Amino acid sequence: MSVLIAIASAHNTTTTIGQRIAARLATHIPGPVDVRPITEIPASNGIAPYSAVIVGSAIHMATWLPPARKFLTAQQVPLSERPVWAFSVGVPNTEEYAALEREKMEALVRKSVPQLRGHTLFQGRIEREQLAWPVALFFKWFPKSAKFGDFVEWEEVDKWADKVGEEMKEAMKVSK
Ligand SMILES: Cc1cc2nc3c(=O)[nH]c(=O)nc-3n(C[C@H](O)[C@H](O)[C@H](O)COP(=O)(O)O)c2cc1C
Repeated sequence: MSVLIAIASAHNTTTTIGQRIAARLATHIPGPVDVRPITEIPASNGIAPYSAVIVGSAIHMATWLPPARKFLTAQQVPLSERPVWAFSVGVPNTEEYAALEREKMEALVRKSVPQLRGHTLFQGRIEREQLAWPVALFFKWFPKSAKFGDFVEWEEVDKWADKVGEEMKEAMKVSK
């Protein structure tokens, strides 16, 4: 089996998380795991070679990045024919806001991929310099999504990748 991890990232954290998931998946399933930017996946037949897909996007302004949202609608049919998992990367400041963002992002994906097998939200990384002034204002208005630093919890990433690896193995009825 071959697996696609399709990534939408503005400042590379989502890509790094996707790469970590790929390395971890390789210990659960046979076959290649490709991590590719969503923008480089052809609209026509782009996911045809893959038997399972994980889609990951950074959260900006309380939603997925535009190329990730476009991918979900453009690839709705091929995605419906494969097992699909998804993850979001953000910096929610409280457990409550994290739960809200997790729920909202999952609902966004499910609109295009109703058979979605699983979704999670990982803490990401943000520096003050990444914010242009209108976004800095947004952060001021929504302080629950405002904090700065590296919050990536690699153990959480590994845990989720292990779980998905086992579910993938079961879904594809393969054994290593
Ligand atoms: C312009 C901008 C807007 C953001 N908006 C949100 C947001 O609404 N909610 C959130 O949890 N994180 C938000 N973040 C934080 C990013 O999701 C976080 O930095 C993540 O790690 C980005 O991943 P990337 O490095 O792959 O782009 C925002 C970051 C930027 C730069």
